[in-house]
Amino acid sequence: MAPVAQRPGLAVVVGAGGGLGAALLAQLQADGSYARVLALGRSSERPIDYAQEASIAAAAQAVAGICDQSGLELRLLLVASGFLHGEAGQPERSWSHLDMAYLQHVFLVNTLGPALLIKHFFPLLPKRGRCVAGFVSARVGSIADNALGGWYGYRASKAALNQLVKTASIELTRRNPDSVCLALHPGTVDTALSQPFAKTGLKVRPPQQAARELLGVITAVQPADTGTLMDYQGQTLPF
Ligand SMILES: NC(=O)c1ccc[n+]([C@@H]2O[C@H](COP(=O)([O-])OP(=O)(O)OC[C@H]3O[C@@H](n4cnc5c(N)ncnc54)[C@H](OP(=O)(O)O)[C@@H]3O)[C@@H](O)[C@H]2O)c1
Repeated sequence: MAPVAQRPGLAVVVGAGGGLGAALLAQLQADGSYARVLALGRSSERPIDYAQEASIAAAAQAVAGICDQSGLELRLLLVASGFLHGEAGQPERSWSHLDMAYLQHVFLVNTLGPALLIKHFFPLLPKRGRCVAGFVSARVGSIADNALGGWYGYRASKAALNQLVKTASIELTRRNPDSVCLALHPGTVDTALSQPFAKTGLKVRPPQQAARELLGVITAVQPADTGTLMDYQGQTLPF
């Protein structure tokens, strides 16, 4: 493990209470590749509520304070939040199931929250040197790859997230040419989100394995990869 002074700064995981988010957090804490690792989410000390922009701004301000006090720079922002099913509803099998409350919620969690994270956290990323912003998206958000239909809201919210990531990557590169901003497809992972849909035959992997693989991708990506949707094996997927 590199001495603290040589390790690349602060890593922040948003959505650290989820199946994948918790595994990403644990892995980052265990491998010591960042001098400090911070967990944010709905139940963190500075709780983030995507419906309240002020909570996102306050969390970003707290991170800025930590950077100032510690002298560390924000070198990794990893967003692992997401919604597919729950109290707000279930993914649609047909257009007849389209429902305003479900659509609003799936877009709030998968698209609007991450958009405001970009607004409040990207200004904290350093202007020089390597930094990575990774947003866990999903292959089903790929329009080119959509052969099955269904899941209107989830697909559309992740497609919109991919567009936000692409757009922000362009602005971030202007600010810091060494930056990488990308959307990540984790594969099918054994979490509460996938549980009702993990059909036999689908390759379901434990969150620890998915986290290891995604962090391997994050370590390997280069500025030329910015603005892409990449899977856990480092393959670029079509938008
Ligand atoms: N599991 C899979 O097979 C699979 C496949 C493709 C893509 N993904 C994507 O992977 C990411 C992680 O999902 P997961 O499998 O770990 O699911 P999960 O265990 O259900 O975790 C969901 C995460 O979303 C956050 N979240 C949920 N509702 C929220 C809300 N209203 N406001 C703010 N945050 C909210 C939770 O954060 P806190 O509890 O920390 O607040 C939690 O981190 C998601 O983006 C998902 O779309 C998963």
